[in-house]
Amino acid sequence: MVQHAGRGIVITGSGSAVPTMALSNQELSQIVDTSDEWITTRTGIRQRRLAAPPQSLVDLAVPAAEAAIAMAGLAVTDVDLIILATSTPDDLFGSASMIQARLGATQAVAFDLTAACSGFIFGLVTGAQYLRAGTYQNALLIGADILSRWVDWGDRRTCVLFGDGAGAVVLQTADRDRLLGFELRSDGTQNACLTLAYQGDPQSLTGPVAVAKGTYQPIAMNGQEVYRFAVKRVPEVIEKALYRAARSVEHIDWLLLHQANQRILDAVAQRLKIPAEKVLSNLAQYGNTSAASIPIALDEAVRQGKIQPGDTIAAAGFGAGLTWGAVIFQWGPG
Ligand code: ACO
Repeated sequence: MVQHAGRGIVITGSGSAVPTMALSNQELSQIVDTSDEWITTRTGIRQRRLAAPPQSLVDLAVPAAEAAIAMAGLAVTDVDLIILATSTPDDLFGSASMIQARLGATQAVAFDLTAACSGFIFGLVTGAQYLRAGTYQNALLIGADILSRWVDWGDRRTCVLFGDGAGAVVLQTADRDRLLGFELRSDGTQNACLTLAYQGDPQSLTGPVAVAKGTYQPIAMNGQEVYRFAVKRVPEVIEKALYRAARSVEHIDWLLLHQANQRILDAVAQRLKIPAEKVLSNLAQYGNTSAASIPIALDEAVRQGKIQPGDTIAAAGFGAGLTWGAVIFQWGPG
């Protein structure tokens, strides 16, 4: 099969980092007209962590990356590729190079990748292509976001959902292949459902020559549309990835979804007939941390000893773009 041509890939390390500052639903209800009861029953979220200035995205990403590299047993100079999946870089030109510098990963090429809450899954597949091709051997993938920067803290429909954090994994080439199958999808016709869009007014330079001057607008979301999209498309894409992996639902040890909403997690698991005890969930503590949510949940489950080497994981992301995708992999070096 095309997806398996080339070298094998193993995921050998994980790490995560979240800000220490927490904001509970109770505290949030003093900012906007909401309640702990509404947020908990509609989303499952109880609190979120927020990065306060001067804490930057790079500040969160670096310890997550260091923990993943340490677990993999690599020297930082062994890393030859760094992909930062984020929608909220410290610098619009990209923050991956700053992470490379802070880590001292002098041999690594580093770049940002943007696919919103699907960013970690898209990054996993992107990194895997370089490894399969034999271009690089040791890749570091970081999913990190500080969406609190872009949330309208007066909009109760969105501000209750999001939190900040970073997670990372190390991918390595190996004789054994543990990245079993994937499927990625995009549908720009539904872009308006979830945006963090630039809006600029024309600024005249000279004569008819004008440029746009403005800024990015806060996150705008049609919650019901996104909900419907997620519960329909995520099971489909997992089934497609399972097919490519020559596996079935019964092979899944852990369902690792983007941590957007407990109701979405439950609905997807139900559609796939996956029992609740196989569904990883930590969104009560962190809310939706966008590209960071999957690697944070993965890292916690690994460090708690829930996920064991060889376990089969169905991971799926979904979000703005719209984008969605799934990867079937087995944890650990083999
Ligand atoms: N507190 C209290 N009331 C609220 C709040 C709030 N925080 N937010 C909305 N409401 C009100 C609404 O105003 C509405 O009141 P009305 O009936 O008087 O007009 C009522 O609650 C119901 O609103 P809905 O939007 O219909 O609520 P719903 O049950 O759909 O839940 C939610 C909203 C939680 C956002 C849900 O639609 C959802 O989870 N959607 C998916 C969102 C998501 O996962 N987004 C992230 C994607 S990942 C990425 O790429 C960033």
